[in-house]
Amino acid sequence: MVIGAQELTLRPSGVRWTVPPHAAERADAASSGMMDRGELRCLAAAALAFPWSGAEIVVEIGTYAGETACFVAETLAEEGHDAVVLSIDPFERVSGTRWNPQGKYRRYQRAVRSRGLEQRCLPLIAYSQDAAPAVPSRIGLLIVDGNHELESVRRDLELYAPKVVPGGIVFMDDYTETYPGVTTATNEFVRTHDAFELLHQSYFAILQKS
Ligand SMILES: C[S@@+](CC[C@H](N)C(=O)[O-])C[C@H]1O[C@@H](n2cnc3c(N)ncnc32)[C@H](O)[C@@H]1O
Repeated sequence: MVIGAQELTLRPSGVRWTVPPHAAERADAASSGMMDRGELRCLAAAALAFPWSGAEIVVEIGTYAGETACFVAETLAEEGHDAVVLSIDPFERVSGTRWNPQGKYRRYQRAVRSRGLEQRCLPLIAYSQDAAPAVPSRIGLLIVDGNHELESVRRDLELYAPKVVPGGIVFMDDYTETYPGVTTATNEFVRTHDAFELLHQSYFAILQKS
């Protein structure tokens, strides 16, 4: 094991992933109200666990101000992977509520520009339900973090999970009691889709397509 690397054991699957030291440091620095350091470390490990061939992309549904998108792009770049991070969000068209915040496009642009990631982090300014036909079926990592209502999460999984390639990973944010739509839709999806294994479940959930 690399000195300073962190070993993660996923539950209930028992799968073990490693977070490289630089990714762990970046996760600690990028920790925010959207994703904390533990979740970002696990997201980094998930991103690096997928065997990128150069053809696949990352798709993030719901980006808010782009911090997680930048985090994933930088984590992959550091390990030599140049996958594009496509973030789907209607930004200010969303009527934000306490539990479903409105995306901030200017902040997204600033986050991407300040890190020089304009060619790696690409916004698709649309509701996820409308954007699906424009998204290719080459998703290596899918992050579902848009509207957290049950019907929306169900629809996001139905529309985008089929676009995930074999071995690809689905990362469900906010898998908590505060968001019953996320837990219910995720549990239902795993129960009814044999091709997806639940690798991890805590306050987020990780699925992998066989
Ligand atoms: C919790 S925030 C995303 C946080 C982001 N993933 C991060 O880690 O920083 C939820 C986002 O979903 C967006 N959103 C709401 N409804 C959506 C929809 N139907 N399709 C895509 N994005 C949506 C909101 O505009 C908001 O930016």
